[in-house]
Amino acid sequence: MAPFMSSRYALRSIVRRARHASERKAFFCTETPALFPHPVSMVNGASRGLGLALTEKLLTKHPDSPVVATCRNPDSAAGLSALKERFPSQLTVLRLDVTMEDTMEAVAKEISSKYGRLDMLVSTSGILHIPDQMEPEPKLVNVDPKNLMLAYRVNAVGPILVAKHMMPLLKTGLGQGTGREVAVVANITCKMASLRDNLLGGWYAYRASKASLNQFTKTLSVECQRRKDPVICVVIHPGVVDTELSKPYQRDIPPEKLFTPETSAEKLMDILDSLTPEDTGKFFSYTKQEIPW
Ligand SMILES: NC(=O)c1ccc[n+]([C@@H]2O[C@H](COP(=O)([O-])OP(=O)(O)OC[C@H]3O[C@@H](n4cnc5c(N)ncnc54)[C@H](OP(=O)(O)O)[C@@H]3O)[C@@H](O)[C@H]2O)c1
Repeated sequence: MAPFMSSRYALRSIVRRARHASERKAFFCTETPALFPHPVSMVNGASRGLGLALTEKLLTKHPDSPVVATCRNPDSAAGLSALKERFPSQLTVLRLDVTMEDTMEAVAKEISSKYGRLDMLVSTSGILHIPDQMEPEPKLVNVDPKNLMLAYRVNAVGPILVAKHMMPLLKTGLGQGTGREVAVVANITCKMASLRDNLLGGWYAYRASKASLNQFTKTLSVECQRRKDPVICVVIHPGVVDTELSKPYQRDIPPEKLFTPETSAEKLMDILDSLTPEDTGKFFSYTKQEIPW
């Protein structure tokens, strides 16, 4: 997109291009996987917590729509195995470690051969603490380069690489069956990533890695607009959710502000279902209010 081109123009172009592509598809109507009539979603980081709850919501709220749930160790992901028993044909569970690019390539290949496209990618994988290895730093003296790099690798580099490998499928997907004719990349971030909102300090690795994730996602949204690729890219803060990630730090959270994974997933679903091309490049909270960068 030329610098003088307004974002409204760019958005119109995205939608126009999406329409043309879907018309082309309709014209060449065959039994190819690309024409599978229901939206295909992928949840990365689906073994537990929010990712698992969101996978279940997608399966139950859109009963005809396939979901590809990825995680590091499918064999030990008990929650996903239980979902697979309930939704044997709708759910596909695949191995993906966000620190290993070859696992992303393998997942993209599998989705390509099974469905030929992807309409929504949600990356929920993330780390805040690892027992005996890493915990949020209250002060500068606690900052450790190994943990800074690990948080950056998992929380920021991982999801943008997943988006890179899924992008050809998302461009083919066009949000088919969702009524919006564009695909979605939603990266789960945290309000703590906001620079404007940082009034308390601390938690260097987590804040900075999630701020990088935000910047990566915003940059991707600009590239998609510029190239007129029909993909909406957003980051979403899910609220404070009662999961293993937040467990040790919930003491000062009032009960009404601590969501179950199911409640947070429900709020996320509402946002995901409501996204339009005008939303691309935005940082949303679970109420769909914009959070300042
Ligand atoms: N909980 C909250 O209060 C809160 C608040 C704001 C934002 N968030 C964000 O919400 C997202 C979900 O968090 P959660 O609360 O559900 O945490 P969680 O229960 O600890 O789940 C984290 C998920 O990330 C996965 N993961 C970690 N490292 C990975 C890797 N290298 N490759 C692939 N997956 C990996 C974990 O998989 P394994 O099972 O293999 O470890 C697990 O599925 C995170 O991005 C988090 O930053 C959470």
